[in-house]
Amino acid sequence: MGYLDYKIENRLFNFRTLPANLNSYKVCVFGDLGVYNGRSTQSIIKNGIAGKFDFIVHIGDLAYDLHTNHGKLGDQYMNLLEPVISKIPYMVIAGNHENDNANFTNFKNRFVMPPTGSDDNQFYSIDIGPVHWVGLSTEYYGFEAQYGNSSIFTQYNWLTKNLKEANENRAQVPWIALFQHRPFYCSVELAADCTLYENVILRHGALGLPGLEAEYIKNSVDIGFAGHIHAYERMWPVADLKYYKGPNAYHNPVAPVYFLTGSAGCHSSGMKFSPLPMPWSAHRSDDYGYTVMTVANQTHIHFEQISIDKNEAVIDEVWVSKDVGHRHSEEMRIDGEKFY
Ligand SMILES: [Fe+2]
Repeated sequence: MGYLDYKIENRLFNFRTLPANLNSYKVCVFGDLGVYNGRSTQSIIKNGIAGKFDFIVHIGDLAYDLHTNHGKLGDQYMNLLEPVISKIPYMVIAGNHENDNANFTNFKNRFVMPPTGSDDNQFYSIDIGPVHWVGLSTEYYGFEAQYGNSSIFTQYNWLTKNLKEANENRAQVPWIALFQHRPFYCSVELAADCTLYENVILRHGALGLPGLEAEYIKNSVDIGFAGHIHAYERMWPVADLKYYKGPNAYHNPVAPVYFLTGSAGCHSSGMKFSPLPMPWSAHRSDDYGYTVMTVANQTHIHFEQISIDKNEAVIDEVWVSKDVGHRHSEEMRIDGEKFY
């Protein structure tokens, strides 16, 4: 671990880098946090500074919006978060609110994420200890009518190669965790349980555009995070609408395990769950909050959902574990909707 002192406009900051040989760490994950109604902001700052997590992953929809009032709202947001994001890494991807009608210019120019050759911060990967992290853009799909489809193919071609290589490197880096703004799965009335065209096209593909889920399934992606829906929801392992539930479902999961965590605090409220959860939904909450993921080692990862409404109480938690060498495959999913 290293400490870096740096100066901006004669103000002195220091930044903690991650240790080179990191096996265990904690990550704060959330989507959809704004200046107004940013319910989780103070908790994230306080706990981040206190070392309760080593870095932050913000899965899109920042500030609401970065470009509002000629970027002044974006400045306000960055200043608000400065106490923590000047000290530990703040990894971001774009949500639909980052579309500034100038091809995400405000988003591109405020952040520098790992380079991929595309360099618009919208997709990238990085290995941190036992986890291969991948951030993806669902906004290439969301704004295809405005910007064209070439970025969808650029990202898809990059992803297929990236996941294949990550899969071949499992002995060194056994976990693959993905984050994206719009979810594949949810149980929310206003989003029609994620059966809307915007969800289906990015999950399954349509009109000659490649969907993303098949690559996750084929390459045994372990964990997926999404936001956009302003709620928390933990899914049972699920692949192509087939789910695998039960008390042992999170040990050696036979499909990706998805977490919806878009309840950090957006500018608008009104999220409404569907009357009944979808069958792959294991737990859901509309409390404001964020997720803390603890990478324990090569075989165990723990997830906790922190509720701001309940004074930072943990309202859901789960261990996802796997034996050394476990990778899910089609053969394991022969009995769809299986109870483990
Ligand atoms: Fe969104």
